[in-house]
Amino acid sequence: MSDGSSFYITTPIFYVNDVPHIGHAYTEVAADVLARWHRQAGEKAWLLTGTDEHGQKILRTATANGVTPKEWADRLVETAWKPLLQTVDIKNDDFIRTTDERHEVNAQKFLQHLYDAGHIYTGEYEGYYCVGCEEYKQPSDLIDGTGEFAGQQVCAIHSIPVELLHEKNYFFRMSTFADQLLALYEDNPDFVQPAAARNEVISFVKQGLSDLSISRSSFDWGIKVPWDDSHVVYVWFDALLNYITAAGYGHDDEKFSRLWPATHIVGKDILRFHAVIWPAMLLAAGIEVPRRVFGHGWLLVGGEKMSKSKLTGIAPSQITDTFGSDAFRYYFMRAISFGQDGSFSWEDLSARYQSELANGFGNLASRVIAMVVRYCDGEIPTPTVFTEDDELIRATEKRATDAAGEAISRLAIHEAIAAIWELVDELNGYITSQEPWALAKDHAGRTRLEAVLYTAVRGLGTLAVLLSPVVPQATAKLWQALGGSGELTDVRIDQAWQWTGGTHVSPLEALFPRIEVTVG
Ligand code: MSP
Repeated sequence: MSDGSSFYITTPIFYVNDVPHIGHAYTEVAADVLARWHRQAGEKAWLLTGTDEHGQKILRTATANGVTPKEWADRLVETAWKPLLQTVDIKNDDFIRTTDERHEVNAQKFLQHLYDAGHIYTGEYEGYYCVGCEEYKQPSDLIDGTGEFAGQQVCAIHSIPVELLHEKNYFFRMSTFADQLLALYEDNPDFVQPAAARNEVISFVKQGLSDLSISRSSFDWGIKVPWDDSHVVYVWFDALLNYITAAGYGHDDEKFSRLWPATHIVGKDILRFHAVIWPAMLLAAGIEVPRRVFGHGWLLVGGEKMSKSKLTGIAPSQITDTFGSDAFRYYFMRAISFGQDGSFSWEDLSARYQSELANGFGNLASRVIAMVVRYCDGEIPTPTVFTEDDELIRATEKRATDAAGEAISRLAIHEAIAAIWELVDELNGYITSQEPWALAKDHAGRTRLEAVLYTAVRGLGTLAVLLSPVVPQATAKLWQALGGSGELTDVRIDQAWQWTGGTHVSPLEALFPRIEVTVG
């Protein structure tokens, strides 16, 4: 964890046909928490995010809005997708757009390489295409439409009718990689996660793989096929390549060998593209496959996958304007087991904000710091005698540090936070049972008072270090109030419990102020 090695992590690149909702922000936050954690563990973490701008879906939206697809993409990137990163406090190292020259040119290089090596041929295909998914669908992927689409077959994910397409296209010989893929899943059990997703992928590949249509000729919004400019590259084939073009493939070999392979965080709806098509493309090109592909669950609203097309989309700023970006990050990382679906509700968000962030963590910090100010003139005591109760807190600090790090190595973000929260809860219980306000009443209690406040301050410092990837703003304020030296983000997270503290505290405003509005 701590050898200065690279940890390259990616989010999916987002379609620019619409503005972001909290499902997209969820993916961003998860990847960002992992990147921040690894950075703080002394690794060279590199977080990539970006936008997926080609294909029929974007073209249609732009046309419907009376602008060119590039104008549309520019507008959405600048007004919606880049601002999302500020809204939920993402510290990305790069932002790739599939219309960037560095992407287009090097994606073409990749394609040409596959063509020259005999992995691509001309063929014909007829099938049902979902523009929402940008994917050909099998009959088993379709359901009967309802409402305005009654009597038609619709995509089970988007609930919109599919279109029958018949095209002469270029095909990638994906079928020839089935055995190599199965061997990859077998030899490398962590390659696809979580386990349920892995099993699904394995049984899908075991049924046999078809070749993949990788070009379109009925429209021209895409990367031109290098040997035939009457075709553009299929949008998914184009999009997946972002992970290597951004990392230097084809133009910066040193960077590419330093960064690649990556950990991909994706929603479960796009797991197959990442766990089947993408490694097959890389195997064909003789490039190492990704380190792992993790499929997270969906945010559900009213029991259904939240989506703009179904009008259940909630803009991230609706939450952050009231609760702040830290609360957004904490809530979604804590309340949902990473890898499973989770229902969003305003009530649950408000309840957790109040009980866990404001009362549990925020109040603890304010009370301890206020007592050091009141009873010790702000000077952090330096006691030498400790009781078993103090040692127990110390042991919890170490346990939380180790357990959280171990959970993060499994991408179990919710478990890491739960492990850290044991320290929050124990510290609260400790303050209640030690009653520093009672110890402060007479001189005889002074030695104990100092040991208790010192122990509590240490515990808070450990919490600041451990929670920094999840709630970066609140912990930075806490760190400053505790007199921590240097930048909090430079303090090693795998040694959080060894923090020995500053000399003085300074007053701390409420980390999670009471929210008076009623939401919902
Ligand atoms: N452009 C493709 C990805 C290409 S990656 C090479 C795409 N874009 S998307 O904008 O539709 O979705 C991006 C991500 O957002 C996906 O991982 C998707 O699962 C996620 N989410 C979209 N709606 C979501 C929820 N309701 N809940 C959780 N994540 C959701 O797919």
